[in-house]
Amino acid sequence: MADLRDRVARELERTRARSAGLTEAVDDGDLVRQHSPLMSPLVWDLAHIGNQEELWLVRDVGGREPVRADIDHLYDAFKHARRDRPALPLLGPKEARAYVATVRDKVLDVLERVHLEGRRLTEDAFAFGMIVQHEQQHDETMLATHQLRRGDPVLSAPPPPESTVDVRGEVLVPGGPFTMGTSTEAWALDNERPAHTVDVPAFWIDRAPVTNAQYAAFLDETGANPPLHWSRDPGGWLATGFGRTAPIVPDAPVVHVSFPEAQAYAAWAGRRLPTEAEWEKAARWDPVTGRSRRYPWGDEDPGPQHANLGQRHLAPAPVGAYPAGASPLGVHQLIGDVWEWVDSDFAAYPGFSAFPYREYSEVFFGPEYKVLRGGSFGTDAAACRGTFRNWDYPIRRQIFSGLRTARDATPPELG
Ligand SMILES: [Fe+2]
Repeated sequence: MADLRDRVARELERTRARSAGLTEAVDDGDLVRQHSPLMSPLVWDLAHIGNQEELWLVRDVGGREPVRADIDHLYDAFKHARRDRPALPLLGPKEARAYVATVRDKVLDVLERVHLEGRRLTEDAFAFGMIVQHEQQHDETMLATHQLRRGDPVLSAPPPPESTVDVRGEVLVPGGPFTMGTSTEAWALDNERPAHTVDVPAFWIDRAPVTNAQYAAFLDETGANPPLHWSRDPGGWLATGFGRTAPIVPDAPVVHVSFPEAQAYAAWAGRRLPTEAEWEKAARWDPVTGRSRRYPWGDEDPGPQHANLGQRHLAPAPVGAYPAGASPLGVHQLIGDVWEWVDSDFAAYPGFSAFPYREYSEVFFGPEYKVLRGGSFGTDAAACRGTFRNWDYPIRRQIFSGLRTARDATPPELG
C-alpha cells in the first residue's frame, strides 16, 4: 500500500510539473486571454484542475472542509461554455496558482491517511488516478490552446525519433471474437468498462496512420480543405506548430483533421475508417493467446521506446519510428502520435454503469460525438491505454486528430 501511495504521489507531482510548464511558458496577459472561442483561457483550465481535485479528493475522499466553495460554479464545465468563460470573474494567475497549491497540500495529506480499500471510489486509489487523468487531459487541452496561440514560440522539445522500418501497406485482422474494454484495469474510466466479447468480421487496416504526403496527394487531387494550421507556399504545403512554420514532414502522420475530412480521405483512397471495435482488435488482440493486451506491445506501461506520448516531442513522429510499439499483427503507432478518428458514435458498452458520476461519460453518449482512439504526442501515458476512449464533435480539428484507414476483407482474400 505504501508503494501505491508513493506511485500516486509521484504521478500527482509529475502531472503538476507539466501543468506548471504549460502555464508558466506565457505571461499573465497570455494566461487570461482567450486564444480561440473553442478554448478556455489557460488560467481557467488551471483553476478548474484544482477545483476538480478539491471536489473529489479534498471534500469527497478526504471528508474535509471546502477550500473555496464560492468558486465551484465558475469552474463547472457544464455551467459555462468555453466561449463565455473569459467574461466570468475568474481567479487571476496569482490566485489560481495559490489555489491549486493549497488544494494539493491538502490532497497529499489526505493521501497519507485515507484507506485505499473498502470503498469503490478509493479502491486501488481510483479517485486519485481519475484526478491525475483529468489534469493530464486538461494539459493536452492546454497544449492545443498553445497550438492556437499566435506569437513567438514559447514551448520547445527535442524532435521525435526517425523512421527505422517500412510500414507501408495494410494488415489482415482475422475474423472472430475478441475481448473489448476492461474490467480489471484499476484506473480505467467508466466508459471503458466492462470487458465484453465482440465478434469482428475479418478486415484490413493500415499498418500506420495516414501521412502528410498521402493527405497532400488527396488535397492536390480533390482541392479539399487543408488541415488546420496548414498553409500553401509556392514550394508546397507548410504547417505551423507551436509558433514555428516549416514544410510538412512527408512521412509524419497528418494531424488536425476533422471526422468528415478523415472520412473523405478514406473514401478517396477507396477505403473507410475502421470502427471502434476494429481499431481495438487491431491494437490489443493477440492471435497466439487469444487474449487482449493492455497495449499493442503487451502489458507493460508505455516507455519512450513504445510510443510518442507525454509531450516529450511537439509533433507526431514519422511512421516506422516505433517498431517496439507494434501490435502482434504488426500494426504500428496505434498509441501516441495522433488521435485516430474511428467510425463509431460514443456509446455505452453492454453492462455499462456510470461511475463515479454521470457527467464523466454518460451524458455524452449518443450520435453527436464520434470516438477517437490511441492518444497523441500530447497525451500522457497515465491517460492512455489500449481501452481508452476519447470523444468529440465530428467537426473539431483543433485537437491532435488524425486517422488510419481500413477495408472489408473479401472472401477470396480469406481463402
Ligand atoms: Fe475538466
